[in-house]
Amino acid sequence: GNAAKGMRNELNNMVAGVPEGPDREHFAKEMDSFFVLFARYLTEKAKGQKINWSKIKSPREEQIIPYKNLPDKISPPTTAANLSKLAVLKLNGGLGTTMGCVGPKSAIEVRDGMTFLDLTVRQVEYLNSSHNVNVPLILMNSFNTDVDTINIVQKYSSHALQILTFNQSRHPRVGKESLLPIAKSYDDDGPKWYPPGHGDLFESLATSGLLDQLIAEGKEYLFISNVDNLGATVDTTILEHLVKSGAEFIMEVTDKTKADIKGGTLIDYEGQVRLLEIAQVPSEFVEEFKSVKKFKIFNTNNLWVSLKAIKRLINESAFSLEIIENVKTTDGGEKVIQLETAVGAAIKHFQGAHGVNVPRSRFLPVKSTSDLFLITSDLYGLNHGVLNMNPKRLFQTSPIVKLGDHFKKVGHYLGRFKNPPHILELDHLTVTGDVTFGADVVLRGTVIIVANHGSRIDIPSGAILDDKVVSGNLRI
Ligand code: UTP
Repeated sequence: GNAAKGMRNELNNMVAGVPEGPDREHFAKEMDSFFVLFARYLTEKAKGQKINWSKIKSPREEQIIPYKNLPDKISPPTTAANLSKLAVLKLNGGLGTTMGCVGPKSAIEVRDGMTFLDLTVRQVEYLNSSHNVNVPLILMNSFNTDVDTINIVQKYSSHALQILTFNQSRHPRVGKESLLPIAKSYDDDGPKWYPPGHGDLFESLATSGLLDQLIAEGKEYLFISNVDNLGATVDTTILEHLVKSGAEFIMEVTDKTKADIKGGTLIDYEGQVRLLEIAQVPSEFVEEFKSVKKFKIFNTNNLWVSLKAIKRLINESAFSLEIIENVKTTDGGEKVIQLETAVGAAIKHFQGAHGVNVPRSRFLPVKSTSDLFLITSDLYGLNHGVLNMNPKRLFQTSPIVKLGDHFKKVGHYLGRFKNPPHILELDHLTVTGDVTFGADVVLRGTVIIVANHGSRIDIPSGAILDDKVVSGNLRI
């Protein structure tokens, strides 16, 4: 149609504007893969194609294996042999904007002065030294995070750990009305472009040459996870299961609670295991999607994938991941569309693909300062970059914490606590308004602190709040 033609013209013009050479080739390739996505988006839109809800079934029993059914006694030589075929990949394309930070999200300090990246490096180094192996760490950066990340990881250049980086592609944002790129030239500034979601991984890994390099080095498996998931350590039990089962793709899922209504879930669709994201759900079924009854588990985005299978699917140009349309408003007030894909959606392409239902401890994401509040507290201990829940915590579940807008940015959040409160016995905390905490505050049971507009509440050092509501215009 016309929209496709118009887009193709604009992309061609931008390509022609790049000085001849490898840069042009690279840019042309990026625009080609963007165009494939865009053309598919137009076709699906014209067809009004949404997923057929009546065909969606709960996954069959063999499609999701409980973690406790996996092999438990694995000999150290077997584990070492498995690890020698593994590479660890962190999705590192995202920025820290939501938490009020500039630069890559992985550069935010989260615990004991260490960033997500620092903790990841420690985890992999410890894995390597304790099994006497050399598992490399790969970072998939975006144009938003690449320069900073490369600078940051330089401090590890003297370490034995091999750190490799590659870039995902850069796609043009599209005007919602015009259906044309808002960038007019390849060198237009950052906000005119976007990283197209982590589904971009397979193609970018192949284009970068890293896929072939890893295979040539004898690697067979890739463990992929979000860099902000502090629970995503290399689990040698799942690895052994991956090797033994011959599955080409394993997705770690975990039991859904009422707080996880947003996460993607695994479904059985015409006999095939598939990822279903909230963005694909027709609006009349969103409540059903969110319910814990029909869809009991969600995707942690911890994924184990066969490198040879990736290579095969790339050669067959087989990847066709569901498009997530993300509508945004630019600083200039223009509505733009970003076409994104999710790496987990690739599960449908792989043979023997299935889910493993893992303990909640493997999903410890830091998406907000409320999450930060939990992981900096005495609820967790840190060991070789791994956070473990304090064994003194009853039932080993996290409290529900809701910190208000005054705490939203990391900078503001840090200024409001003298040090992290003690929360071993906390069940529920809600804080709204202008509230500060002194040193060594103890919070237990359900605590609600509400400072009315125009007033401030200062919780004094050493205070013990036990099932307490503090509100009003209190000035202590
Ligand atoms: P997000 O933080 O943006 O997504 O990215 P989310 O909503 O929690 O979870 P998903 O997308 O449903 O899994 C999750 C991880 O993916 C990386 C981020 O850096 C983060 O580690 N990411 C995201 C990329 O590497 N590239 C992208 O284009 C988007």
